[in-house]
Amino acid sequence: MGARPKITVVGAGNVGASVAQYTVEKELGDVVLVDVLDGIPQGKALDLAQAGPVHGYDSTLVGSNGYDETADSDIVVITAGLARKPGMSRDDLLFKNAEIVGSVVDEVVKRSPSSILVLVTNPLDAMVQLAWKRSGFPPNRVVGMAGILDSARFRTFIARELNVSVENVTAFVLGGHGDTMVPLPRYSTVAGIPITELLPKDKVEALVKRTAGGGGEIVALLKSGSAYYAPAAATVEMVEAILKDKKKILPCAAYLDGQYGVKGLYVGVPVKLGRSGVEQVIEIKLTAEEQAGLNKSAASVRELVEKLKL
Ligand code: APR
Repeated sequence: MGARPKITVVGAGNVGASVAQYTVEKELGDVVLVDVLDGIPQGKALDLAQAGPVHGYDSTLVGSNGYDETADSDIVVITAGLARKPGMSRDDLLFKNAEIVGSVVDEVVKRSPSSILVLVTNPLDAMVQLAWKRSGFPPNRVVGMAGILDSARFRTFIARELNVSVENVTAFVLGGHGDTMVPLPRYSTVAGIPITELLPKDKVEALVKRTAGGGGEIVALLKSGSAYYAPAAATVEMVEAILKDKKKILPCAAYLDGQYGVKGLYVGVPVKLGRSGVEQVIEIKLTAEEQAGLNKSAASVRELVEKLKL
């Protein structure tokens, strides 16, 4: 490993392997892939390295069942844990994944005490809260991926509905990564025009509903696991914003200390992501209805977090 940034990805399953793939395809740095399964991270790292000559990247890829190779990582992406099966909610994964994420955090913070942790494992908001507590890191260096994915799903549906480029569509989603997420049509636009001016109310509501159930729709189709291409793409957008110090405004699970009326809890909000991690929580004015939606979402995150007795 040399002068390039170092990115560790823990969990070399569907999401983790795709995060590694997109990371090296964008040449964001060198990647260490860690998993408990013998041979899987090693095999996937070698396979991805061998795509390098074709795709034209020189990033180093290392796979391991241990953590020594992860030392001094700039970013650690945590995807380790169980994925949903049909009929399961993200919350059903709570205790098992808490055990896994807790042990992963212990291993990575020992070796990369200055890293930024990006959590992907579900139930997302509770896992970020756990990782923050367990790491002892300041809250700006522990962040969760959810809002970019949820808003990317919303953007996809809006673009299809209006037959326009996804690049013209921005979308805003607040709250926890679950059934209580709060898509904000008022702040979701096509080339700057709010979708509330382009689509009838019932259409907007249908797209919002499909977005909130977007993960479940894919679980029902795949039957053997959950989504991974879009989750990985969303995660790598965060990795890129951090490593390149882009100061990009993105919806992420971030620690709230009174913003939006929420205190001491990780919830999805727009933040500024740069080289120090979460550099600012962006507060926008919400209508009473939107604030009520966010309160409800935060309450359900808090309920899960309380079960963990952190
Ligand atoms: N340490 C490291 N890796 C682990 C550990 C552990 N303690 N426990 C499990 N893993 C690994 C598994 O061996 C598996 O390879 O985590 C990987 C998870 O991969 P998948 O089962 O393919 O699940 P994936 O679709 O990648 O989802 C991972 O991200 O989006 C969330 O809800 C999803 O919580 C799930 C996570």
